Amino acid sequence: MCGIVGYVGHRDVAGFLLEGLHRLEYRGYDSAGIAVLQNDEIKVRKKAGRVQELSSELDSNPVQSSIGIGHTRWATHGEATNENSHPHIGGNGEVVLVHNGVIENYIDLRNQLQGLGFVFKSQTDSEVIAHLLAHHLQEQVKLGEDASTKETCLKALELTTRKLNGTYGIVAMFKECSNTIICARAGSPLVIGIGKDEYFLGSDSSPLIGYTEDVVYLSDYEIAILSSDGMEIIHRDSGHQSPSIQTLKQVSADSDLGDFEHYMLKEIYEQPQSIENAMRGRLDEDEATAKFGGLNIDPQQLRKIDRIVLTACGTSWHAGLVGEYLLEEFARIPTEVEYASELRYRNPPMTDNTMVFTITQSGETADTLAAMRECKRKGHPTLAICNVVGSTIAREADGGIYLHAGPEIGVASTKAFTSQVTVLTLLALYLGRMRHLSQPAGSRIIQQLKEIPDIIRKTLKCHEAVKDISERYCHYENFLYLGRLYNFPVALEGALKLKEISYSHAEGYPAAEMKQGPIALVDEKTPSVFIVPRGNIYPKVLSNLEEIKARKGPVIAIACEGDTRIEQLADDVIYVPDVEDYLQPLVTSIPLQFLSYHIALLRGCNVDRPRNLAKSVTVE
Ligand code: M6R
Repeated sequence: MCGIVGYVGHRDVAGFLLEGLHRLEYRGYDSAGIAVLQNDEIKVRKKAGRVQELSSELDSNPVQSSIGIGHTRWATHGEATNENSHPHIGGNGEVVLVHNGVIENYIDLRNQLQGLGFVFKSQTDSEVIAHLLAHHLQEQVKLGEDASTKETCLKALELTTRKLNGTYGIVAMFKECSNTIICARAGSPLVIGIGKDEYFLGSDSSPLIGYTEDVVYLSDYEIAILSSDGMEIIHRDSGHQSPSIQTLKQVSADSDLGDFEHYMLKEIYEQPQSIENAMRGRLDEDEATAKFGGLNIDPQQLRKIDRIVLTACGTSWHAGLVGEYLLEEFARIPTEVEYASELRYRNPPMTDNTMVFTITQSGETADTLAAMRECKRKGHPTLAICNVVGSTIAREADGGIYLHAGPEIGVASTKAFTSQVTVLTLLALYLGRMRHLSQPAGSRIIQQLKEIPDIIRKTLKCHEAVKDISERYCHYENFLYLGRLYNFPVALEGALKLKEISYSHAEGYPAAEMKQGPIALVDEKTPSVFIVPRGNIYPKVLSNLEEIKARKGPVIAIACEGDTRIEQLADDVIYVPDVEDYLQPLVTSIPLQFLSYHIALLRGCNVDRPRNLAKSVTVE
C-alpha cells in the first residue's frame, strides 16, 4: 500500500510533499516522512502516525529545498514506529529512499548485508533496499566511477533491483548527485508529472492534480531519472524508452466534509445522488434497456458470452455477489464471483467466451489488478466497474463502466457499494435484453430503477431509529448478520462494515445456513441482525428468525414499512421502503451502514480511519 511522492524543480519542496502525502493518506496512515537534499546534505523528517504529525514536526524542524521525496506508510514489515517510517537511509548516508511494495527475499538480503557490515535501524524490508543501493554505489566507486554522476547512481539502482524478489516502487536520492531523483518500479505504480523545468512523482496521480496534466505512467522494470537536465526512462532489458506522455484526467474532488462530522456519514447521505449518477444517461427507455459508452466491445461479441467472472475484494466482492444473482436472473448467463486474491493464483476452467469484470472502487487494489492482468494474459476481454477515473485498473482494462460516485474517502465503503450494485443491475438489464428479457420486463425494470433515488432518500430517514438502537447494542462483542437471496450479500457487507470500523466481531451468513453450525453461537449476548424485507421468501426468513428467538438471541430486524408481524418477533425493528427483491440490497444496506457507524462512534473508534486499514489495499 503506502503512498509515495517526489519532486525536483524550483519550488519549495516541503509544501508539495506534504500536500501530496495528505492526498495519498488513503493508501496508509501508520507513519509519514520526507527527505530533502539541503546544501548537499540529506535531511529526513519522519514520524509514526498521521501526516498531520509530520506536518507539526516540520513546523518545529523545517527543511528548505527544491528536491525531495515523501512517503505515507501502511505497515507490512515492522510496527508503526518512527524507526520503521520511511524514508530510509542506506550505508553511510550516501542514499535515501522510499519504497512501496513487498520485498519477499528481504531476510536473505538483510543477512548478506549485515555480513558486509551494514547496520539496520528498522525491521522493514525497505531498509534492505537502501543498504543494497548504498552497497552497489560503493562498489561502483571502488571500480573508479564517480558517485556524483547520474550514470553511476543509475547503475547502482539497476544492480539493486536485479536482486529484489517481490514488488516495488522505489524513489531514491543520492547525497553526491544533487538535483536528481531516480525511481524504479515492478508491480507497484509510479506516475511522473511533467512541469516546466520540474518533475512531480506519485504512487498515483492524486498528488499531481493541479500541478500538471502531462503524465507518464512508469511500466514494470523501467527506471526513470529526473533532474534539472530532463527526464530519461530506461527499461532494465531493452534500454532507453521514449516516454509516452498522457493527459491526466482530472476529476473535481468534492472532498469537503460540509456539515457532516465524518466522511462515512457524508457518503452514506450522498447515496441518492451517487446512485442517480450511476444511472445518468444509461437508461434507454425506447429500447427498454441500458446503454454504456465505454464497454469497447461490440454487441455481437457480447451476445456470445457464455460465462461471466466477476472478480473483486472486500465490499466490491459483496457487490459482485449481488451481481451474480442479477446476471443469472435477468441475463441467464452463468456467473462466478471470485476473490481476486484467489483468482490470481488459481487456474479455473474458462470458456473462450468468458467475460471478466473486475469490480473496484479505487481501481488500485493489488489483488484485483493482478487477477485482471492474469485473465487478460489468457486472452479474455477484461472490463472494469470502477470509481476512480484514470486509476490503474481503469487504464489497463479493455473497457468498462465508471461509477461516477465521486470521491469515497471514508475507509468503510458505502456509496461505492450501492453504485456498484446499481451498475451491475444496469449490466444485467443490458445483457438480459440481448437475450431472454422481454420489452415489457425491461421497461418495468427501468421504471423501478428511476424511482430508486427517491426511495433511497426515504430510506435515509431510518437514521434516527438506528441511532437509538445502536445505543442498546454497542456493548455487544459478537453479532450475526443474516439474510437470504439478494440479502445474503447484504448480510456479509453489514458484518464487514461493523467489523472494520467498530472492532466488534460479526459474521454474515445465509439465514437458513446458520442452523448448520453458527447457531451454536447464539445466546443472550449474541445479537442477530436479520434482513427480512417482504418478498419471495419472507415467510422462510421469519422462520429462521424464530429459531434464533427460541435460543434467546436478541434480534434487530430490517423490515419493510407496514410490517406489523415482525414487531411481535424482533426485539428492535428498523423499517425501510418496500421494493422488488432485486432492488433490496440498495435499500437494506443503508440501515446497516448507519448501524456500524453509530456503534463505532459509541465505542470511541475512528470511523473514517479505522486501525490497521487503508482505503486502498495496494499490496497483495
Ligand atoms: O477499491 P476496491 O473496491 O478495490 O477495494 C476493495 C476493498 O479493499 C474494500 O472494499 C474494503 O473491503 C472496504 N474497506 C470495505 O469497506
